[in-house]
This record gives sequence, C-alpha cells and structure tokens, in this order.
Amino acid sequence: MKHTEGRLAGKVAIVTGAGCVGPGWGNGRAIAVRFAQEGARVFAVDKDLSAMDDTLALVREAGGEAAPYACDVTDSKAIAKLVAACVETYGTIDILVNNVGGPARGGPIALSEEDWDSQIDINLKSVFLMCKYVMPVMEAKGSGSIVNISSTSGIRWTGSAAVGYAAAKAGVIQFGRVVGVEYASKGIRVNSVLPGQLHTPLVDMVLARDQSGGDIQTLLKRRQARIPMPFMGDGRDTANAALFLASDEARFVTGAEILVDGGMSARCD
Ligand SMILES: NC(=O)c1ccc[n+]([C@@H]2O[C@H](COP(=O)([O-])OP(=O)(O)OC[C@H]3O[C@@H](n4cnc5c(N)ncnc54)[C@H](O)[C@@H]3O)[C@@H](O)[C@H]2O)c1
Repeated sequence: MKHTEGRLAGKVAIVTGAGCVGPGWGNGRAIAVRFAQEGARVFAVDKDLSAMDDTLALVREAGGEAAPYACDVTDSKAIAKLVAACVETYGTIDILVNNVGGPARGGPIALSEEDWDSQIDINLKSVFLMCKYVMPVMEAKGSGSIVNISSTSGIRWTGSAAVGYAAAKAGVIQFGRVVGVEYASKGIRVNSVLPGQLHTPLVDMVLARDQSGGDIQTLLKRRQARIPMPFMGDGRDTANAALFLASDEARFVTGAEILVDGGMSARCD
C-alpha cells in the first residue's frame, strides 16, 4: 500500500520493539507491518537492529515503507536522538506505539531488587520517556495518537506471579488515562491495548523457559485453558486493535483500553 492510501494514509508512526525475539508474529512486528499496510510510514525502533530484519522484509512485501532505527527506549538521551531522527527522516510524528516490554517471574520475595527496577524501566519508564520526547512534536501540531501495549496482567492474575510486570502494566493503563485526559483538549489521544494470553514467539522462546522448564506444549495448554475462545490470538490481533486506536476512526476515544484476550477477563471461574 502506498503511503497516500489506507486507514493510516499520510501518517508517520513510531513503533518501539518492532523486532521480535523469534520468527513469527510478535506484537511489535505485527503492528509495524499492519500500520505500513495501511499507509503509515513506520519509524521502526528496536535495541537490536537484526531483530527487525523479518519485520522490514514483511513491510517491503506489503509494499509499505519503514525506516529502521536502533535505540534502547529506557535511555532518555538516546530517545531524544531517536525523535530528532524521525522528524528529520519523515518530517513529523503522528502516532507513537509503545510496545517494548516483557515479564520477569516472581513475587516480592523471589524477584530481586535489580529485576524489579528493570521491570519498571522496560515496561513503564520506557512509556514515560517516549511520551516525554515525542509529545512536544504532537503538541506543536495539535494532534497525535499514542497507543501503549499493556497486558491483561495489569488488571488480573494471569497464571504466574510476575509482580513487577503486573504492577508496571497496571501503571501503563493509568498513565494512559491521566495523560489522555490532560491532553484531550490539545488533540492528543492516549489509549492502551491489553493483550491476553497470546501465542507469540515471546511465549515459545522466553515464557516456556521461565514457566514450564522449556516445555512449550504444556505451557500452551495451561494458557489455552484460561481462554473461553478455542484458540490463542497472536501479534496480529494486538495490531488490529492498535490500528483502530491509532487511526482517525478512534477520534472520540481517549484514556481507554481495548482487551484482546478471547474473553478471558470476562470470565471469573
Ligand atoms: N506475547 C504475549 O502473550 C503478550 C501478552 C500481553 C502483553 N504483551 C506485551 O507485548 C509487548 C511486546 O510484545 P512482542 O511480541 O513485540 O515482544 P518481543 O519480545 O517478541 O519483541 C519485542 C522487541 O523489543 C525489543 N526490545 C526489548 N527491550 C528493548 C529496549 N529497552 N529498547 C528497544 N527495544 C527493546 C527486543 O529486541 C524485541 O525485538 C510487551 O509490552 C509485552 O508485555 C505480550
């Protein structure tokens, strides 16, 4: 799709964590590709450039446009440079998707202080810092859409104690509500997507190691058992929700959340 056509025609979108820990549809990869399919020019950010190789190939296959950029989104100086580079490359920023994040297992006793700090940094501080540097560009033009990728772990128990992750993801939701209200009159919308138990490469490569001794099938069975729908979604489901929130179709939606969890959060048994 040319960047003059589609649901995001003419928009410039920063997507953080646009790579993936493995082959397949992670959230960040799927968001970058879906947005490019809908006409956005995507400034694709990852701390690991090679993790974005497949993402860029899929964007090209879709006839879309993306520029890769290496940045650790917990580093404020690097983020300031990232924002300047995006504006230099594409002239502006219309959409910011804060996708970087990931869990570390453990409650208050098991989780080390260092792991707690790094969970807050990667899942919550990254959102704050990206907004801090991107929002002035949006404020100056009087429009913008920010989509934060939170998690159902921010609102409920999801099968294992990951207290730093859960607290940080809850923080992301409330961050979005407060900033959404503060900037409602300035044309900047802020919303969250809460994916549930997806089947993404992160689950196969990281969670299976941490939660089931590397036994992917056992972990997938446990995750599926929590979901009313008879299958697990993947990054493309997160991407479709993010696409709606990022687009002008959601012009009256701010400070809100979309659950993408196959009905899991609506069930209480
Ligand atoms: N997979 C699931 O089931 C699930 C469920 C709920 C929420 N989520 C959320 O989805 C988001 C990520 O999903 P994904 O599938 O894209 O994950 P992923 O781990 O496959 O990919 C994330 C990318 O982020 C990059 N990254 C990590 N730390 C970074 C940093 N500090 N700076 C820049 N880049 C960094 C990695 O290199 C990787 O390429 C996270 O916020 C996660 O909490 C996932």
